[in-house]
Amino acid sequence: MDLSGKSVVVTGGNSGIGAAIVRSLAAAGAAVVIDYVSRPEDAADLVKDITAQGGRAVGVEADVSTVAGIDKLISTAVDEFGRLDGYVNNAGIENRHSLLEVEEETFDKVMAVNLKSAVFGTQRAAKRFIEQGAGGVVVNISSVHEDWPMPGNFTYCVSKGGMRMLTRTAGVELGPQKVRVVNVAPGAVNTPINASTMKDDSLRQKLENSIPLREVADPAQIGDVVAFVLSDAASYMTATTVFVDGGIMQGSAGL
Ligand code: BGC
Repeated sequence: MDLSGKSVVVTGGNSGIGAAIVRSLAAAGAAVVIDYVSRPEDAADLVKDITAQGGRAVGVEADVSTVAGIDKLISTAVDEFGRLDGYVNNAGIENRHSLLEVEEETFDKVMAVNLKSAVFGTQRAAKRFIEQGAGGVVVNISSVHEDWPMPGNFTYCVSKGGMRMLTRTAGVELGPQKVRVVNVAPGAVNTPINASTMKDDSLRQKLENSIPLREVADPAQIGDVVAFVLSDAASYMTATTVFVDGGIMQGSAGL
C-alpha cells in the first residue's frame, strides 16, 4: 500500500485499533498526527518507533469531542506536514448498559466521543480538503454494531448506527468535491475496549466460537484495511462500509 507524501490524522491514535492504524499508515509512508487524551507516553513511543524507521509522526493532546480539539489536530497536520490528505475518526468508548438503564450524562459522553467527534472531524477535514482542491479521504471506524443490534450495549450501538448514516450522507454530499468517506467496521478485536472479555477464558471461548474465522482480530488486521481505504487503490470507494469482522455478522449460532 502506498501512502507516501500523504498526511493523515488518527484520532485516539495512541491505543488499541488507533495505534495499529498509525503503524500501518506510517509503514505505508504516510506522515501521521497521533491524537490522544491520556497516556502521552504511548503516543511518544509510537513517534519514537516511527521516526527510528525513517517515518514521520507527531503526538498531539486533543479532545475530539470538541470542535476546538479537532481544529488543533488539523492545524498541526498542516503546520507540520504542509497539508491534510486523510482523517481517521477512530476515537471511541464503550460503556455497556441497556436502554432502560442509560443515564443522560453517560449517553451524552458516549455520543460526544463516538459520534459528535466523527461528525465534526468529517466536516473540518472536508473543509480543508476542499480548500486544498485535491480531494481527500475520511475513514470512520464504526463497528459491526453500526448495523447489528447488541442488547446491553445500547448507546454504543446508537453511536455506531449514527456513524453509518454520517458516512452515507457525507459521502453523497462530498462526492462531487472528490472527498471520499468510508466506514471500516471491525468485529471483535483484541484491544483495551475488550479487555474484560479477553481475560475471561469462557467468555473469550464463547466469542471465538461465534466467529467463522474462529479468532478475535489482531488490531493490525484492521490497520491494514484502513491503509488500503486511504490509498488511491480504493479511489472508487465512498459512502459505504467495509466490514472486517472474521464473518461474525453472518456467523451461525454454532452446533
Ligand atoms: C465491540 C466489542 C464486541 C464486538 C463484536 C465491537 O464493536 O467493541 O465489545 O465484542 O463489537 O460484537
